[in-house]
Amino acid sequence: MRTDTGQVFRLEDYRPSDYLIPQTDLSFILSPDSTLVTATLTIRRRDPGARNAPLVLDGDGLQLRGIRLDGKPLSQDDYSATPDKLVLHNPPADFTLTLETDIAPSKNTALMGLYRSNGVYCTQCEAEGFRRITYFLDRPDVLSVYTVRIQADRAEVPLLLSNGNPVEKGDLADGRHFAVWHDPFPKPSYLFALVAGDLGVVSDSFTTASGRAVDLGIYVEHGKEPLAAYAMDALKRSMKWDEEAFGREYDLDVFNIVAVSDFNMGAMENKGLNIFNDKYVLADEDTASDTDFANIEAIIAHEYFHNWTGNRITCRDWFQLCLKEGLTVFRDHEFSADQRSRAVKRIAEVRTLRAHQFPEDQGPLAHPVRPRRYREINNFYTATVYEKGSEVVRMLRTILGADDFRKGMDLYFERHDGEAATIEDFLKAFEDTSGRDLSQFALWYHQAGTPNLTVTAEHDAEAETFTLQIEQSVPPTPSESRKRLMHIPVQFGLVGSDGRDLAYAEAEGASVEGGVIHLRKRRHSVRFSGVRERPAVSLNRGFSAPVTLSVEQRAEDQFFLARHDSDAFSRWQAFNTVMTEALMAASRRILDDREPDFSPAIAELAGAVAEDKGLEEAFRALALTPPGEADIAREIGGNIDPDAIFAAREALIRFIAEANRDLFAGIYANLKDGGPFSPDAASAGRRALRNLLLDYLSALPGGVDLASRHFASATNMTDRAAALTGLTHRHQAAAQAIEALSAFEKTYGKDALVMDKWFAIQAAAPGAGTVDAVKRLAAHPSFSLANPNRLRSLFGTFFSGNQTGFHRADGAGYVLFADTILGIEKRNPQVAARLATGLRSWRSLEPKRQELARKALVSIASTKGLSADLSDIIERTLA
Ligand code: TRP
Ligand code: ZN
Repeated sequence: MRTDTGQVFRLEDYRPSDYLIPQTDLSFILSPDSTLVTATLTIRRRDPGARNAPLVLDGDGLQLRGIRLDGKPLSQDDYSATPDKLVLHNPPADFTLTLETDIAPSKNTALMGLYRSNGVYCTQCEAEGFRRITYFLDRPDVLSVYTVRIQADRAEVPLLLSNGNPVEKGDLADGRHFAVWHDPFPKPSYLFALVAGDLGVVSDSFTTASGRAVDLGIYVEHGKEPLAAYAMDALKRSMKWDEEAFGREYDLDVFNIVAVSDFNMGAMENKGLNIFNDKYVLADEDTASDTDFANIEAIIAHEYFHNWTGNRITCRDWFQLCLKEGLTVFRDHEFSADQRSRAVKRIAEVRTLRAHQFPEDQGPLAHPVRPRRYREINNFYTATVYEKGSEVVRMLRTILGADDFRKGMDLYFERHDGEAATIEDFLKAFEDTSGRDLSQFALWYHQAGTPNLTVTAEHDAEAETFTLQIEQSVPPTPSESRKRLMHIPVQFGLVGSDGRDLAYAEAEGASVEGGVIHLRKRRHSVRFSGVRERPAVSLNRGFSAPVTLSVEQRAEDQFFLARHDSDAFSRWQAFNTVMTEALMAASRRILDDREPDFSPAIAELAGAVAEDKGLEEAFRALALTPPGEADIAREIGGNIDPDAIFAAREALIRFIAEANRDLFAGIYANLKDGGPFSPDAASAGRRALRNLLLDYLSALPGGVDLASRHFASATNMTDRAAALTGLTHRHQAAAQAIEALSAFEKTYGKDALVMDKWFAIQAAAPGAGTVDAVKRLAAHPSFSLANPNRLRSLFGTFFSGNQTGFHRADGAGYVLFADTILGIEKRNPQVAARLATGLRSWRSLEPKRQELARKALVSIASTKGLSADLSDIIERTLA
């Protein structure tokens, strides 16, 4: 474990390396406890005229076993080697360096570098894992052409994979064999990959637009091949889509994907050899939910799209991470929007952004999309870099229009192919193609914090003008107290009483083009003339900018927009706002010992949306979903009492369900799946609506029987998991809930990925008893502290997804938090640090919980010898 040294890396300190490594030859002689790695590096001084500088290579926990320069052993005086550094004091300008290291994949529990997962050798090198394999210039701006030779026992390890194209393989004495791979595309070390083991394969092929045939392979555990069919289909659709939407073709003869069980993140885009968390590959109707199918499609696409945005053009340094991640998320969002329903996809994206990025941006871990400093880069694979990074690219397209956006992308690809680029390079391509000045827009990359827009509206019937007063403010965030004014593109509509957008004669006070108001100043008074009737104003349609809105508006306007706005996102938003406001009021009343009193108009609206056949089922499901407890807490902002919020939410669900009981029951009955299962968006939407109605109906008397029947008759995992959730969250003590849990366990006890759902559903159960349930579940035979998916489903769900259970008033959840995270850190600091973000919003809690949470954080902070990963998160959280 790399312990914290307190070292801070700063963007302004960037300078190119003194040496280049144009060629890298690696040889691996694989064995679990002692793998011999021989690296033969062709090294060249960047500036041959410069006087010689020492060569400093990165390492992490390495032991040097041999070193030769141009084939000759070096003397002790020529170099110095420590586990984390190799220095050649006085190297020539051009030479070959041969390094031998001996590593132990079986002892690698951090899952960075070369490790073993279920007996399979595999690697994870992003961001700084390559230095756990051999000494190297382990930084993304050092691009090298790799040739990799792998040797292992033939019977035990029949499959030998690396990046690029296969060039040679053969048998050796003593039952051993080897394979050689060559990747012609220069790449940074973080994209290196090796997989070796005994796996099954699903093969297919894809012919690119220019006629190149590509062999596709998805490698999974023997017997699981049928579960990779959906992933293969998603891969072929991704390859086709990137040709059509971005003009990007694949470039090697093979494209391989390997699914492994132990993986710190979702998946990794290694050149020609993507490695996936098996959760994002394996699926069939019996074991995977519709959300799983959608995630598989999105992540397969994401990693594939990295081939151009990330691999062919990579990042100059890790501060530029959003250059590849934000852009690639934008690309996978667009792909999913085209494959499914654009409106539904957009709503889902915004829900995710608000659930993950907004609290990050509004708390102690806030940072710009392109950070300026970090202590541990692993902690910057965040919702801000990924999700907000994608929103920034989306705004760029809104501002430029689709055509100029595409021209800018084309220029970016053409200009920087084969290079390690920066955000400035990216923006310059769009400035050059469009002729626009994007310097104010660039602040979206540089300033942290969620901008807020305060809006008031006034209609002058006599003058026939409608005026919007809009003021922007960006709140202070850690180490950025003063903010500059941003360029915020706000898509809007003025909705008339017939539900149509009103035409207006002229708009003054801001540049308004194509239904978008461009805010650039602190205040704009935007006056529309020729507006005869008072419109309902629909703002931030399609969520055109990642901001919060404080709009002074009549309550009935929201109800009206929820039924009539022509923009589906805004219609969803209006209903969501109606519910959020009702829930905030209800939770205040509960804290005052009063009963919530909801307006019947909410129940009517819910009924009208539920039965509106003109709306997609998936949309109706999203619209009817009440804001989550964390969403409500975020709107309230501070002094949070999770129990009051929970009670308010349950009361609203019962109120809507009681008023619509027969209607909901009727729609529910009509939505039952007929015919064979299909994971397509329309079928998934039907299931989503039916399961959402189940959630309402299960809150009524008799709900336990309905949920229990739903569970027993389920023919797919989506329905089964929804019913199990309803039973265990609303009827924990009922015999039917206990029976369903044990039936599920009996059926799926051997299937780790399905058991993750069983753990997660129980970890999310509301109430004070869940702390003990989680402790009990941690001792379950299907649980393992060594597997990140298990940790995320049990502890991740509990710490980040259970408001009443984790934030139990006596602080027992926080004690479990500290103990668990310190235990996990010893094996896997990266996953421990991520789990530790579960307390990032501790300052919004009411004072008693706040103090108990602080104590738990301090108890971690005062532990000796913390990892860089964990101490970075905890210290920033407490600062
Ligand atoms: N680049 C990966 C992605 O596509 C992220 C990733 C996978 C990662 N594994 C990792 C990042 C391990 C850090 C550590 O998003
Ligand atoms: Zn990515």
